[in-house]
Amino acid sequence: MSKAQIWTVVILGAFVILFIMQRILRKEETHPVMNNESSTTETYEDEGKLLIDRLNCVTCHGADLRGTPMGPTLYALSEHYDREQLINYLRNPADYVEEGRLKEFKEKYRSIMPSYGNQDVKDLGKISDYLLRLK
Ligand code: HEC
Repeated sequence: MSKAQIWTVVILGAFVILFIMQRILRKEETHPVMNNESSTTETYEDEGKLLIDRLNCVTCHGADLRGTPMGPTLYALSEHYDREQLINYLRNPADYVEEGRLKEFKEKYRSIMPSYGNQDVKDLGKISDYLLRLK
């Protein structure tokens, strides 16, 4: 092979490698973008509702949040909690068990309310805002 031929092969090879790398990098980039698109196309009218679904509250409280044998209804909570109290409850439900109503719940339902103290307080605020609107 002449020098010119070797250079041609080297340059072509470099182009092929660049092309392949570009394909690989592009694939990695599009993944998170696709995820973003799929979560924004879910039309949630309320971020609190979205969080409630994400955190699987519905497993115990029911898809309509009106209660199951695993957990009580989440309607009419505004009769018992204000926003601050509800956030505190979600962070540490065990603190409230001694109170009358919740003591009865403990005997009535086949599970216990988990603590969501590991969640962002802002998110718990959004959940509380949503729940307090269920009358
Ligand atoms: C494993 C089942 C379970 C899951 C999951 C669950 N809960 Fe509960 N929840 C309960 C039970 C049971 C009670 C009744 C209190 C008790 O026995 O601990 C309760 C009580 C409550 C109460 C108090 C109701 C009242 O009338 O005072 C609120 C508010 C509540 N849950 C909100 C939520 C939210 C919001 C989520 C999701 C972030 C959630 N729960 C997830 C089982 C669950």
